[in-house]
Amino acid sequence: MRISDKPIAARLKELGVELRPGVPLSEKTSLGIGGTTDQLLLRKFETIPEVMHLLANENIPHRFLGGGTNVLIADGELPYVVLHLPTSQPGMRVEGNAAYVDAAADLGGMVTFCAKRDLGGMEGLIGVPGSVGGALRMNAGAYGTQIGSYVREVELYRAATGKLETLRGDDIRFDYRHTSFAPDDVMLHVKLELPSKPFKDILAVIKVCNEKRRASQPLNQKSAGCIFKNPPGGSAGRMIDELGLKGHRVGDAMVSDRHANFFVNVANASCADMLRLIDEVRERVRVTYGIELENEVIFWKN
Ligand code: EPU
Repeated sequence: MRISDKPIAARLKELGVELRPGVPLSEKTSLGIGGTTDQLLLRKFETIPEVMHLLANENIPHRFLGGGTNVLIADGELPYVVLHLPTSQPGMRVEGNAAYVDAAADLGGMVTFCAKRDLGGMEGLIGVPGSVGGALRMNAGAYGTQIGSYVREVELYRAATGKLETLRGDDIRFDYRHTSFAPDDVMLHVKLELPSKPFKDILAVIKVCNEKRRASQPLNQKSAGCIFKNPPGGSAGRMIDELGLKGHRVGDAMVSDRHANFFVNVANASCADMLRLIDEVRERVRVTYGIELENEVIFWKN
């Protein structure tokens, strides 16, 4: 969607929003897939309600993109603009056992920042790519750690009320790769409470997690991490592997030959290729195991 020639462009500029016309979102996602649209870079959190109000008045659909590491975006010209939160030097600070972090911060960067200040607990999250905001929304987890366990407060923009609000950790449900946030809530800041742990001990756990990850996941290829959620008590990766589907391709979308629940873009895969591969694999698993796999990756349908 193009809005740079519309009157709203000047109003957005007055609010400090930078408008980048015609950005291929394939450059903004870890899968390297995604169509083209105008990108709005917000410079200040405080302007979000006003920016959203303007967009709503002009009937301009929008979506917020964070790290782009767990999303599959449709091909072609997209019928919405994409918004980004301020990402230059996102704030992080520690006070006692509390860490205050901007949602735009890099998740791994946050784990390291806290570790250096002798705050641990999140070691397992070190290699999970993406932003803190995305990790909150999905309750990202790995190696026995999930971010939700440490959340004490989240400041967000609630599209439902049009306001900035602060939620207490106890009022948010964090389940396996699912939370009680509304789909159009925008994460802004989080307060975490972390256990004290010496940096060298944290580092030792981080090293083990990194080694496990390197040994089992295709880290140097374009992917969105695991494509499917694990079914209760089962493993999507193991089932797909048992079906002999590693290396199975649709166009340039391929089931990783390292981890069968990672689908990689080997060159120039389209969203259509990836969707067909997802459907084919889901169907094979359904027929053989009687299990309907649920997407873990978030699909931005047009
Ligand atoms: N397995 C296979 N073949 C494969 C992949 C896995 O046989 O191709 C087997 C493994 O040998 C193991 C079992 O399946 O016995 C589980 O595999 P793994 O330890 O790799 O964990 P996972 O359940 O496949 C989950 C998360 C990952 C996270 C790892 C490590 C989900 C969907 N995936 O994977 O998260 O990094 O555990 O904690 O919950 C993600 O969320 O995108 C993600 C990659």
